[in-house]
Amino acid sequence: MRIEALHVDDDAAVRELAELRRAVLAHDEPEHPGADAEVLAALLRAPRPGNDFQHWIVRSGDSLVGYAELMLPQVENRTSAQLEGHVHPDHRRRGIGTALYRHCAAQAVAEKRTRISAHTTGHVTGGKFTRTEPGVSFLSAMGLTRVLDEVRSGLDLATVDDAVLDRLNTEAWAKAAEYELLTWIDRAPESLAEGVAYLEGRMGTDVPTGDLDIEPQRFDLARWRAIEDVSVRRLRTTYYAAARHVDTDEVAAWTGVVVPRRPRSLGHQTTTIVDPAHRGRRLGTLVKLGNLARLRADEPELRSVETYNSVHNTHMIAINEAMGFVVHDLAAHFQGDL
Ligand SMILES: CC(C)(COP(=O)(O)OP(=O)(O)OC[C@H]1O[C@@H](n2cnc3c(N)ncnc32)[C@H](O)[C@@H]1OP(=O)(O)O)[C@@H](O)C(=O)NCCC(=O)NCCS
Repeated sequence: MRIEALHVDDDAAVRELAELRRAVLAHDEPEHPGADAEVLAALLRAPRPGNDFQHWIVRSGDSLVGYAELMLPQVENRTSAQLEGHVHPDHRRRGIGTALYRHCAAQAVAEKRTRISAHTTGHVTGGKFTRTEPGVSFLSAMGLTRVLDEVRSGLDLATVDDAVLDRLNTEAWAKAAEYELLTWIDRAPESLAEGVAYLEGRMGTDVPTGDLDIEPQRFDLARWRAIEDVSVRRLRTTYYAAARHVDTDEVAAWTGVVVPRRPRSLGHQTTTIVDPAHRGRRLGTLVKLGNLARLRADEPELRSVETYNSVHNTHMIAINEAMGFVVHDLAAHFQGDL
């Protein structure tokens, strides 16, 4: 077994990594299709702004059998590192994960990081999927502490109940007469972008994060625009909906869903946030319903939308359940000192 750096411009290695990831997903999360080599290359070559990334692979003979991504935040959280990794199902329980973890932890220490975090999907009684998750046992064995659980749930578009959505929409508008709904794709109109960036910054303070110790990200217009640009380079389309307060022109709420270029069947919910001054008027429901209506009209191949919510985020979970989202399982966040 040898650990090597993966160079993101190395097309052959990226193709091998796409194969590894597909094998891992087919084994652990068969509901997730996985990116093909072209989409994966775009993801690796257009990294999320504000972070450095290291990519490490493990080879056994000629085969690529393990991978880890080490994220080193450069703006906030400069003493933390974030790790994500996987080992081919046929090569597990031979110490490859441990070797990768130790290698990445040493790299993080060399980059003056004192804390490391990682997350994995898990198991929840009564969820749609009841698999046993090796990541939870593995990260515990690495000495990390489970600090936050997120509910992973999905909305199956084939079973959406339009009568329920219509009723929710009517009830929401009854409380939201002072607002208008706006939708856009990828790049916020100039008139909304500042408000969108401001509310994105509130995500770090307003969303309950349990015992996860993390500095909130600060956002301004330039940082938001950089994220929008990178998202397009990552070969994805992002659908947004916002509620604008008509009298003041303020962005009172917004939500986003990402649809990868291939496959276009599974959308991923990103931010949903309502400004504290505008809460209690059903705006969270309104923007999510507005975005869903646009997605259904514009994305004929879309089959479902997936979302993660902190288990402490009861309001957001209640909105999702009312819309018809079904709980799949839990994602568990781990953190520990280096
Ligand atoms: C988690 C994962 C990376 C572990 O890789 P691995 O090479 O099998 O890990 P190791 O052989 O180094 O295991 C180290 C220890 O973790 C624990 N562990 C790992 N897999 C386990 C499982 N399926 N059940 C119970 N304990 C497990 C054990 O304590 C193990 O030591 P042991 O084999 O001596 O009992 C791999 O299962 C995987 O790719 N899973 C899918 C992706 C994922 O969940 N990643 C983790 C989050 S970043």
